Amino acid sequence: MKNNIIIFDFSNMSDRISNYMNKTVTVKNFKILPYLWGITYNPLNTFSKLIKKYGNVLQLKVGKDSVYVVNDPDVIKHILKTNQDNYPRGKSVDDLADLFGNGLLNSDEAIWQVERKALTPAFHNSQLEQFYQVFFEEARSFTTILKNYESEQKPINLEYHFKLLLMRITFRNLFSPDFNYDIPKIYDSLSLILHHTTFKESNYRLFKSIILKKKIKLFSNDRNRAALQIISETAEKLFEQAYNGEIKTGGMLTILVKSVREGITEKSTAVDELKNVIFAGSDTVANGLLWLFYFLDKNQQYLEKIVEEIKDIDDVKLADQSALRATPVVQSALKETLRLVPPVWSFYRTSLETENINGYVIPKGAFIMISPFLLHRSEKFWNNPLVFRPERFMTNEEVEQFNYIPFGQGKHICIGNRLAQIEIQLLAIYLLKRFNFEFVSPTEGLPVLKPELIIASKTKVKVRVENRTRKELTSM
Ligand code: HEM
Repeated sequence: MKNNIIIFDFSNMSDRISNYMNKTVTVKNFKILPYLWGITYNPLNTFSKLIKKYGNVLQLKVGKDSVYVVNDPDVIKHILKTNQDNYPRGKSVDDLADLFGNGLLNSDEAIWQVERKALTPAFHNSQLEQFYQVFFEEARSFTTILKNYESEQKPINLEYHFKLLLMRITFRNLFSPDFNYDIPKIYDSLSLILHHTTFKESNYRLFKSIILKKKIKLFSNDRNRAALQIISETAEKLFEQAYNGEIKTGGMLTILVKSVREGITEKSTAVDELKNVIFAGSDTVANGLLWLFYFLDKNQQYLEKIVEEIKDIDDVKLADQSALRATPVVQSALKETLRLVPPVWSFYRTSLETENINGYVIPKGAFIMISPFLLHRSEKFWNNPLVFRPERFMTNEEVEQFNYIPFGQGKHICIGNRLAQIEIQLLAIYLLKRFNFEFVSPTEGLPVLKPELIIASKTKVKVRVENRTRKELTSM
């Protein structure tokens, strides 16, 4: 009888056990095929389906490329906080590196640390109070736009107008009150760039790269490069004029000029920081405001509570931050909006070393996607997740630090987090006191979204505006 010799190889035993016990599911080959179309054209729904079917930590593998989708709060906590140094942004921002440069969204650790420390005071509470005058001036001129639409009985594209409004506020408050800029042109450039950040556009570029056998990047396209040029020239001109004392400076630009003068920040980095905030600081907020109004229109019981809550807050009271703290319904409705539609629907990390996190193995070099959108809509962590129910944030019974992350977590947590919430609350109170916003489209349910890097509406948002007092009188 032939001797059967069994060889036990004990080398790398712990690695093997850990891989054997690995709870991370890999979806590849014939299993991933049915989802490829969906990942390209409808990633939000498709990722949701994949997670439902395969679990909360999975590796999606197409050819040599793969992405680890992580949707488990404990694993997210480990990546974003507990061992955050093992998970830098890495290659995730490659495509936008020409736009982000050395700004906070892309810089190496050493530069990031210096810059984050230097810029943090620009977003302190004490600074925010100085922003109120601009808020009111801009809000007041915005009511003129709304009145025109109302008198012409024409629906307004609220997404577009909110984005312009927020861009004007960001420029005036953070950069300069008297810089001469062309907001619609900057808006168009940013929109074009953002449009090319969808999975669909990225996959087209990948496909083209394979056919043409050369790397096609976001800014290989002439129109995108021209758009980038407009944003870069605006930021350069802004910084130059501020540095030469030709314009007054707002909070963030004041700090940048000082930091460059003191030799802490390079001039080019200061320009990059401005570009980062042009990118990250207004569309995000406009989105939050837009969908807050949408959910309130579709859930009138909360709108009524808010109208009651804010009825005694006049502009004088509103100019004091304590007024915002005294509006729990507005606050919780905003939080619930950012749960259902987090403007930054996903962000990415790359792992430096292999780790086993609660049984999930994430290997060295893994490209990791964390999606507030998927997490916030998971039935595992929220009751009836698709229902708009601000009460969850009043009692906080369902809310944990790592199942609710609209602003991220850990050291890269959004630097404009507080500013964004104040901007949305202020504008919401100011505008809802004066107008009623009826969404003609989308008409019902959850809005259908276009997952650019910052989420946008898939279809044009049309809203009928009506003076609130007139509306209330006619409905009596
Ligand atoms: C509702 C509005 C906003 C949302 C939902 C949002 C969301 C986020 C998220 C999720 C991150 C973390 C990304 C990551 O971890 O990779 C982030 C980072 C960042 N955000 Fe925001 N943001 C908003 C408003 C703003 C505003 C108003 C500004 C500035 C004026 C801003 C500037 C930035 C910057 C510079 C970073 C990078 C921070 C760092 O890496 O140190 N954001 N934001």
